[in-house]
Amino acid sequence: MKVLVVGSGGREHSLCWAIAKSSQCDELYCAPGNAGIDQVAISVPVPADDLDGIMEFVLDNEVDFVVVGPEGPLVAGLVDHLEAAGVKAFGPSAKAAALEGSKAFTKDLCGKYGIPTAEYARFDEPDAAKEYIRIKGAPIVVKADGLAAGKGVILCRNENEAYAAIDHIMTEAAFGAAGSEVVIEEMMTGEEASFFALVDGKTAVPLVAAQDHKAAFDGDEGPNTGGMGAYSPAPVIDAKMSQQVMDTIITPTIEGMAAEGAPYKGVLYAGLMMTEKGPQLIEYNVRFGDPECQPMMMRLKSDLLDLLMACAEGRLAKAKLEWRKEAALSVVMATQGYPGHYGKGSEIKGLEKAAALKDVEIFHAGTREEDGRILANAGRVLNVTALGKTVAEAQKRAYKAVGLIDWPEGFCRSDIGWRAIKSRA
Ligand code: AMP
Ligand code: GLY
Repeated sequence: MKVLVVGSGGREHSLCWAIAKSSQCDELYCAPGNAGIDQVAISVPVPADDLDGIMEFVLDNEVDFVVVGPEGPLVAGLVDHLEAAGVKAFGPSAKAAALEGSKAFTKDLCGKYGIPTAEYARFDEPDAAKEYIRIKGAPIVVKADGLAAGKGVILCRNENEAYAAIDHIMTEAAFGAAGSEVVIEEMMTGEEASFFALVDGKTAVPLVAAQDHKAAFDGDEGPNTGGMGAYSPAPVIDAKMSQQVMDTIITPTIEGMAAEGAPYKGVLYAGLMMTEKGPQLIEYNVRFGDPECQPMMMRLKSDLLDLLMACAEGRLAKAKLEWRKEAALSVVMATQGYPGHYGKGSEIKGLEKAAALKDVEIFHAGTREEDGRILANAGRVLNVTALGKTVAEAQKRAYKAVGLIDWPEGFCRSDIGWRAIKSRA
């Protein structure tokens, strides 16, 4: 079978790495890919959001199956285009991708189907939004409705911050049309976890849970990033909690989406807050988490391609999922300056030595190759990922590999996994 993975991050590298192991995979392409993905797939120079370019490549090369990594092309309708052309794809339709594409859509769905989430109201007019803030008081959370590259959520400690957030999103249009509507929510407290389920329209199968670290620096200090590291399993989600999340959050969502005429297919990623009242939904994403996907792929024993095909073909009820018992942990190495301004083009050495360690994989996020040298090409650059009997052992092994990488222009957190390790101590 000819398979195309769409995307260019560490998530897509780990997906390609797992798909390449499948006996059903004869040729593997990735658009646009990166220098690490080149080791397991053929990179195709078509950007992930160039829908016409992707359709052209798929049809010209008779690709049988397309796996879409990031949310942008999903929300823009890539899967709809592929299916209309008779090509199978892993990922939701544009209508179902509204679970990530519109926070207001998701909140309304939660209200209609009794899915536990923070109390909220939505506004398309700043004065009414400010009036609601005056009534509710602070702390309070202000969110742009649409996709804002992970930056559209503002946690406000006092009312003035909340009014400023409304001005920023609505009046100054900091996120463009994504902020023409806002969702204002009650602030929840608790530990966060990422929960993933594969879905084929009717059946949902939980995957292992994971936790990521959003803050840039040790001790969860500093600005929020796309994620500085992740590990799986997540001790806050044991088997009983996983069942509770399926029963109260995931299953009602899948049934609700089917009832709304937008059956969900693909991977559903629930950002959860483990509150005193039980697990509550913070938000949905319609894709694998990045970097959560990387440790999950290290733990997966089953044939990933077969599972993704089962989602597309509606045969997930019969699918078998097997996981390694070991934990996995991924440390993100980023260019100094990230998530603010950073340079590109610095050389990374020592990758082969680090990758040669047992039970270590180095997934590339933002790299390119030039004359045989690997150069940093983005903010998040490498995901150094390791297996271990425990999260602590996986952590030790991942940092040993980090120590072998010679890249003075890069940095990473030194405490990825601290919460899981503390909870076991
Ligand atoms: P989101 O982009 O919706 O995942 O939000 C980004 C981050 O903001 C989440 O990971 C949470 O840490 C935080 N957050 C979002 N909504 C809430 C809420 N209602 N209460 C507390 N924290 C929140
Ligand atoms: N790790 C956070 C995300 O993928 O959105």
